Amino acid sequence: MIRAKKSESARIAPGMWCSISIMIALGLAITTLYACSAGPALSADQSRGKRIYEALCDKCHKLIPPQSRADHEWTAAAERYGVKLKLQPNEVTLLKVYLNRANDADFR
Ligand code: HEC
Repeated sequence: MIRAKKSESARIAPGMWCSISIMIALGLAITTLYACSAGPALSADQSRGKRIYEALCDKCHKLIPPQSRADHEWTAAAERYGVKLKLQPNEVTLLKVYLNRANDADFR
């Protein structure tokens, strides 16, 4: 009789599992929310392209939202305005790498 009592007290009450699952689910939800609010991860080249874009492409007009143009339009714009800004060929490439990623539907 004493034995049975002992093992019973060591068990986690069935209701506890429910609380534990809720805590795990909340933890996951918070982690997911944080990961999404921190913005998308950029590769090193994409970050360089972003810096060039934000530093130089607002000289004559406001920055145009990357989502508003298709890849081929950004490629053409990077080449056209890259010449005007006297960018190096590798800087034009970085601009294209960033802009052709930043207009993707899953890029938020
Ligand atoms: C020397 C001034 C100048 C600079 C610097 C400049 N732009 Fe522009 N941009 C313009 C003008 C003027 C227009 C509108 C007329 C046109 O389409 O040429 C324009 C329009 C645009 C358009 C819209 C074209 C369309 O109709 O789809 C895009 C996209 C664009 N620029 C991208 C860029 C990017 C990317 C950079 C940086 C590499 C940049 N611009 C830097 C002057 C500039």
